[in-house]
Amino acid sequence: MKFVSNPSNQNIKSAARALFEGQLVVFPTETVYGLGGDAENLQAIEKIYIAKDRPTNHPIIVHVSSSAYISDWAINIPEYAFTLAEKFWPGPMTLILERSEKARDMITGGQKTVGIRVPNHTVALDLLREFNEIGGRGIAAPSANLFGKVSPTTTEAVMDAIGPKLSDQDWILGGGNCKIGIESTIISCLSAKPYILRPGAVTEEMIKVIVQLDSNTETEVKHSGSGYNHYAPNAQVFLDEFPNIGDGFFALSEIPTPLGAVRLASPKNLNDFAFELYEAFRLADKKGIDKIFVMSPPRIGLGIAIYDRLEKSRYKN
Ligand code: TXA
Ligand code: MG
Repeated sequence: MKFVSNPSNQNIKSAARALFEGQLVVFPTETVYGLGGDAENLQAIEKIYIAKDRPTNHPIIVHVSSSAYISDWAINIPEYAFTLAEKFWPGPMTLILERSEKARDMITGGQKTVGIRVPNHTVALDLLREFNEIGGRGIAAPSANLFGKVSPTTTEAVMDAIGPKLSDQDWILGGGNCKIGIESTIISCLSAKPYILRPGAVTEEMIKVIVQLDSNTETEVKHSGSGYNHYAPNAQVFLDEFPNIGDGFFALSEIPTPLGAVRLASPKNLNDFAFELYEAFRLADKKGIDKIFVMSPPRIGLGIAIYDRLEKSRYKN
């Protein structure tokens, strides 16, 4: 594969061209790295599923350069979805909408809905715009990890996770460490009011300021984590329990390390906790630690999304 840690305009143009020709391009976003393919090219989408070892009934988010492209992929878009898009795009938010003809089963997992997001990272946006220039409409991209594993937030993590699965024609575009570090907030826009399917950095509090949220969380829509295990390191994760000697330990910096435990990170606040979470998991795996004890942070704001990932990381396929 072609790897560039700090892509030039020329690299981005070449990667956009490769996408258009059906190759895969890993690109950075503000949340986690994505493994991208042309959302209109079913062979490219198939390659994504194969590279990730992902079940094909699992839908993939379509990334677009601006909300002008929503109507390519979705129909019957409620007014509040435009309000959310206006406020939070580009940004860590995915909207689930009724799909258009263009959004094929390979992307939607056979469902009648499609997930759309405008990421907030210059490399991702430049890639999307170059892709538009040559006729591309959207990049389908799940997180660039093997199915069920931890999402990559650094180029090293991408290399370890998916590097061996890419071909010589595929690209990895670097863009530093992902600023947020956990995946986007997923919001269902299929009912009279929106509701959150996966919490993220666009929090309930932030959404409530501009639109009313539905408190109903019962849903027919298959979403992240339902029926599957996610975000799991090789080590077993324990939440809010006390570690033994040699176990991994991850907590806010104000919490001291229990005697003999191996501190994996000391984030100062919730933002740092999210930013460091997946790398802390990776560090434990690299050190050969088989138990990670995490002291969960307060469940407010971003803490809700962190807790969601921590809970899911405890279960393995
Ligand atoms: O931050 C993110 O969202 C990252 C970056 C790369 O954009 N992407 C990401 O993709 O996390 P992935 O595939 O690892 O997780 C997306 C989740 C999946 O669990 C999938 O079930 C859900 O989004 N999803 C996608 N399309 C959907 C749809 N039409 N209906 C319901 N859920 C959907
Ligand atoms: Mg994922």
